[in-house]
Amino acid sequence: MTGPEKTAPSWAGPRLRVEGLVKRYRGSDRNAVDGVSLEVGAGEIFGLLGPNGAGKTSTILVSTTRARPTAGKVTLDGIDVAVHGSRARRHLGVVTQVNTLDRSLSVWENLYFHCRFFGFSRREAKARCRDLLDRFELADRSGDRVDHLSGGLAQRAQLARALAHHPSVLFLDEPTAWLDPQSRLALWDRVRALRDQEGVSVVLTTHSMDEADRLCDRVAIMDQGRILVCGTPEELKRAVAAAVTVELRLKAPPSPEVLHRLEALRGVERVTSEADKVEVLTASRDGAVPDLVSAVGEGLLDLSVSEPTLESVFISLTGRNLRD
Ligand SMILES: Nc1ncnc2c1ncn2[C@@H]1O[C@H](COP(=O)(O)OP(=O)(O)O)[C@@H](O)[C@H]1O
Ligand SMILES: [Mg+2]
Repeated sequence: MTGPEKTAPSWAGPRLRVEGLVKRYRGSDRNAVDGVSLEVGAGEIFGLLGPNGAGKTSTILVSTTRARPTAGKVTLDGIDVAVHGSRARRHLGVVTQVNTLDRSLSVWENLYFHCRFFGFSRREAKARCRDLLDRFELADRSGDRVDHLSGGLAQRAQLARALAHHPSVLFLDEPTAWLDPQSRLALWDRVRALRDQEGVSVVLTTHSMDEADRLCDRVAIMDQGRILVCGTPEELKRAVAAAVTVELRLKAPPSPEVLHRLEALRGVERVTSEADKVEVLTASRDGAVPDLVSAVGEGLLDLSVSEPTLESVFISLTGRNLRD
């Protein structure tokens, strides 16, 4: 490890603890974060999953000392972020949704000054920059000014900077929202490597249920400032295991009457259709298929039943779609 040691290497509790966090912005009449509590352990990838406006970014802003809590408390390695901001900042790294690198400086300078700011000697800072540039495949771009980098490269540089001072918790706010599918998978691999090789805890926000399911060890589903459920993706899906999605393929697009009949069936929570396909989310598998078949009648060509996803968890909790 290059650079200064952490100030509290002996902390054995949760890396991040959020207790009863409330954030209300000035002039607003509602809480953006409305009593959130969670804990993230060492070497865990924790996802905050929720639609736009759920309060994910606000939770991260307070946790990373960018905003003050209205009530409640956030600790990082036991350090209260609202009381000891600069100490807490040694324990956290953050990649925000907007690029916060200094655009007038080169990649190397951004990393070097960051290390110096966090107390590395000149030699330590140079060594750390070399490590990071290699590791993030930025070595041949190290002299480039940040404002000449593409989005994907700029994000890699931000990630390198966020990790430069060996934080124990890395916060990523919608890290893959603007990435192409290939860069998205590459970022997932980097995040997993941080967890597996260095024991870094990662807290990321996403509105992609696929990302939450495939990348995160645990997920908190957030809506309107609150955590609705929290657990491993498997636990969350098991909790609504009764719910299934049935896809029906018809001979022709369904008539409004058919859609009405489907919606009126017991246990049916949502019916969506596109051309000759109808998707039905139903609360229980028991008896669902025969009911659906008789509601559709003659026009049915094919039918398939699929297991619950995190999206069906969200729908069954809120009655809404994540994308709404
Ligand atoms: N600076 C601000 N001032 C007032 N309201 C804000 C501010 N930032 C966010 N909000 C509101 O707080 C709520 C939560 O926002 P945010 O934390 O950005 O959610 P998310 O990241 O899940 O989309 C939203 O209703 C948003 O409009
Ligand atoms: Mg956000």
